[in-house]
Amino acid sequence: MSDNYQPIGVFDSGYGGLTIFKELLRQLPQYDYIYLGDNARNPYGTRSFEVVYEYTWQAVSYLFAQGCQLVVLACNTASAKALRNIQQKELPGSFPDRRVLGVIRPSVEMIPEMTKTGHVGVLGTKGTVVSESYPMEIAKISPKSPISVVQEACPMWVPIVENNLIESPGAAFFVEQNLTSLFAKDPLIDTIILGCTHYPLLTKVIRKFLPEGVRLLDQGPVVADKLEDYLYRHPEMELRCSKSGRCDYYTTESTQNFDLLGNLFMGSEVKSQHVKLG
Ligand code: DGL
Repeated sequence: MSDNYQPIGVFDSGYGGLTIFKELLRQLPQYDYIYLGDNARNPYGTRSFEVVYEYTWQAVSYLFAQGCQLVVLACNTASAKALRNIQQKELPGSFPDRRVLGVIRPSVEMIPEMTKTGHVGVLGTKGTVVSESYPMEIAKISPKSPISVVQEACPMWVPIVENNLIESPGAAFFVEQNLTSLFAKDPLIDTIILGCTHYPLLTKVIRKFLPEGVRLLDQGPVVADKLEDYLYRHPEMELRCSKSGRCDYYTTESTQNFDLLGNLFMGSEVKSQHVKLG
């Protein structure tokens, strides 16, 4: 690897982060990237705080060892359960010049301009929902005109995506069940945050069961915009990110499976390498 190869790292527990990664490549194609999916230990959404933290830090350390100066946690569960500790406990002592960013804050910043009723729904993994990260962050950005937030954990959606069952009757069954339950908690919702990077892969099914006029916040374009803005505001980091348009994929599971689904989700050829974390 050449000395100046300093890719941007993008991490998810599996395939879901590809929904973010696709937008990064579309909007910021000049940079080098490594996408790392921890498919072997997925899902993270039902795991404890300690385990998600341990796995996420192993992944970030691996990406740092590959030369990444900047890592995006393209995973809500990891952003909710590991990001703050990594930023506050790991980086200052051992990696003061590296940065790790998440997906929750950038998404929340879009909410005040999206909702008209002031009623928002969040769909996420159990881990993200229990962490209360979304309600807390939304409360912080709109203290004067409080936005009502209800959440729904959708534990079956990630396995459906990871097993490529997106078009199956089972997918429609669980999506309808969770959306019905979300709207029973608050019928005034006009904006839904897809608070798990796997969920945009189910957008077609979700739209089938959505009341008319309800808006979906898809994190991919939002995170890409915010990353572009971050790099503009931090030229010292921007200069350290190498730019030859190279793109490598790593998975902790079978490369054959990753390439197959990766091709499908990215709409272009994906050729992954196997890595072992921890
Ligand atoms: N895609 C991840 C997220 O955004 C997590 C899925 C999982 O591993 O449970 O939360």
